[in-house]
Amino acid sequence: MLDAAKIKQDFPILAKLVYGKPLVYLDNAATSQKPSSVIQTLVDYYEGYNSNVHRGVHALSMESTQRYEEAREKIARFIGSPGSENLIYVRNTTEGINLVANTWARANVNDGDEILTTEMEHHSNLVPWQQLAKARNATLRFIPVTDEGTLDLSNIDSLINHRTKLVAMTHMSNVLGTINPVKDLTAKAHAVGAHVLIDAAQSVPHLPVDVTHLDCDFLAFSSHKMLGPTGIGGLYVKSDTLEQMEPFLTGGEMVQEVTFEGATWNDLPMRFEAGTPNIAGSIGLGAAVDYLEALGMENVHQHETEITQYALQALKELAEEFTFYGPTDPARRGGIVSFSSPHVHPHDLGTILDQAGIAIRAGHHCAMPLVRDRLGVAATARASFYIYNTTEEVDLLVTTLKDALRYFSKSLSLP
Ligand code: ALA
Repeated sequence: MLDAAKIKQDFPILAKLVYGKPLVYLDNAATSQKPSSVIQTLVDYYEGYNSNVHRGVHALSMESTQRYEEAREKIARFIGSPGSENLIYVRNTTEGINLVANTWARANVNDGDEILTTEMEHHSNLVPWQQLAKARNATLRFIPVTDEGTLDLSNIDSLINHRTKLVAMTHMSNVLGTINPVKDLTAKAHAVGAHVLIDAAQSVPHLPVDVTHLDCDFLAFSSHKMLGPTGIGGLYVKSDTLEQMEPFLTGGEMVQEVTFEGATWNDLPMRFEAGTPNIAGSIGLGAAVDYLEALGMENVHQHETEITQYALQALKELAEEFTFYGPTDPARRGGIVSFSSPHVHPHDLGTILDQAGIAIRAGHHCAMPLVRDRLGVAATARASFYIYNTTEEVDLLVTTLKDALRYFSKSLSLP
């Protein structure tokens, strides 16, 4: 069991007062806070050895190159990658998915092929496939979402068929908190010769994730949701696929030999990393991995399961006013609770909670088709938990929501 109150002390921002009240940060699915050890890594880089990587023969450059590549090895190990050459540094999950869409998918998805995704995707794992399907004259199909907020797999053997070229799915929904059976779906996809991409933006920060065990072909995640800096993330690609992929961005760093007529490509994974990379960010993400590994990802997941169940239980008192989304089975959901009311707009709830120092997200959470067309609401309020959240904070959330409902029932003359 994690000691969230003690962990909180490692995060300078969590000592902050907002409108004179202690900050209760429940917007972790949008971005997580950063511990001092990660922040210090960035300061150390800029104060101590700021220099470019893979270019210089001087001491600073050798140090930055070594730390940059050590971080890659650490991050690759953290996700169970067989080697560090399988881990491409990208800006974020979105860039990782776009890289796959613009390289492997452009070369391999053809007229009449199908790309299968789900109704619960973030726009970043939907729009690139819409664009690709248009460009390649392919068909985009969707695994439906049940009323409980899980994937409806009743028709899966027809959805995954001999025309399927790619299954692109989220590991954990950023709206519903649903954890999807990605390993089983990967096995089904491979049985028909399809590739599999996992959007792990919400899973790598919160659950043990092992790409070798999942056997996926691509897996993308962002550093800023897992205690690391913004502007850096990872794309894992399985070796046989990676070796066949043509570069995405071209220019410096990604080449071996350049003539006036053409160029040959650098070794993997640098072939996919054109230009000066986010050196400080990569090393900072390595420090975030150190922090999470010291806690243990099983413990991180268990803490979030417990706090989510505590929240769902406490929020039952408000069940008459709010609809809560996502699976009831604790084993099938992570630390996200989304809810909406027919009487109060989520933005108004967000504003009232903010006045009490509580940060949540209100909106469509970059998953408009799910929220608007499947859940049938314009927006939801969303509380999302992490390692530093406590049950006392959940109690404050519930009390403040009750106050908000009292306020709105007066101003709207609700029953
Ligand atoms: N994808 C992030 C969220 O769900 C930004 O809030």
